[in-house]
Amino acid sequence: MFENFKIKKLSELQVFIMTNKKYFTQGLLSWNKKDNRRQMPWKGEKDPYKIWLSEIILQQTRVDQGREYYNRFVSAFPTVEILAKAPQTKVFKLWEGLGYYTRCKNLIATAKFIVKECKGKFPGKYDDIIALKGIGPYTAAAISSFAFNLPYAVVDGNVFRVLSRYFGIFSAIDNEAGKKLFTKLANELLYIRQPGIYNQALMDFGAIVCKPQLPLCTDCYLKSKCVAYLNSYVDTLPVKEKSIINKNRWFYYFIISFNGKIYLQKRKGKDIWENLYEFVLAEKSSTQLNINKWAKIFLKELLSNKNFEIISVSKPHIQQLTHQTINGRFIRVAINKQATIPGFKAVSAAGLSKLPFPKLITGYINNNALF
Ligand code: ADE
Repeated sequence: MFENFKIKKLSELQVFIMTNKKYFTQGLLSWNKKDNRRQMPWKGEKDPYKIWLSEIILQQTRVDQGREYYNRFVSAFPTVEILAKAPQTKVFKLWEGLGYYTRCKNLIATAKFIVKECKGKFPGKYDDIIALKGIGPYTAAAISSFAFNLPYAVVDGNVFRVLSRYFGIFSAIDNEAGKKLFTKLANELLYIRQPGIYNQALMDFGAIVCKPQLPLCTDCYLKSKCVAYLNSYVDTLPVKEKSIINKNRWFYYFIISFNGKIYLQKRKGKDIWENLYEFVLAEKSSTQLNINKWAKIFLKELLSNKNFEIISVSKPHIQQLTHQTINGRFIRVAINKQATIPGFKAVSAAGLSKLPFPKLITGYINNNALF
């Protein structure tokens, strides 16, 4: 019945949902009970604060790495009050490596809001949860269902993949119409009696069985009605319409040291890595062919003709962000007189170790003795 089958209209999808909902839900829940051995520190957690932390972290990294960040956050900030009172630099330091620091800023702002405006009690209704800064439909559904057992379906990358394949939906997942369609479908399928368990099971199923690459179709509990499996378009789904435009940037970092200290500044403005620390930076729109020659001209001007010595120039260090590639080089420079570089402070090794840096820089610092 499902072979040569491709859903083209919403009405066809509706009929398919009605006839398959039970099979889908029961298959998923019995896989969850019998075969799902995935353990994660936030799984089964009921404290909305901790669920919130885990979900924000997991928007930035994979589960494996997310575990470590989650455990460190929970032990440093076991309650929302403690997070709200923490110095921003300390929170940023724990966030280091996760990237997209706006999320971290929102985390702090929302913790303060909950303490001040909600007497420290995390809101328990979906509409109040989604109204919090930094919390979108996905995170609000996760908190509502995991902590309060409220009937809201989570719709993340795993859910798009499982539903698009099982139901054979070719609508793109990265436009508004597609998101709406999948959200509607996910909510119609939700197992109302146990929304939290169902949501977690669906995400785990997407991560373990219905994986992006090499999904475990032959052992799948849902294979006998999976439209993509029966029609051999598992690898084609889900569909995306946009190909992301990638921008290249060249960052030349000058590690200028004098008397056991290194010059650092805090990044400002609306660019990447706002509020993180960095060395003296010259950003160029293309690679510099003769770095030594160019660096000498740059340093002469920066240091107002004071003496300097270029000690080394690193190999390229690359960091891939969502829409841009940062090509970094680190140029070690020694000076023999104190210099004043506007906006920069000379920082010791102890001071430097407490500050948050972008991953590109920690990668260099961790593999090269700076002092
Ligand atoms: N990704 C985001 N949230 C998750 C969760 N609760 N479990 C597994 N993967 C996730």
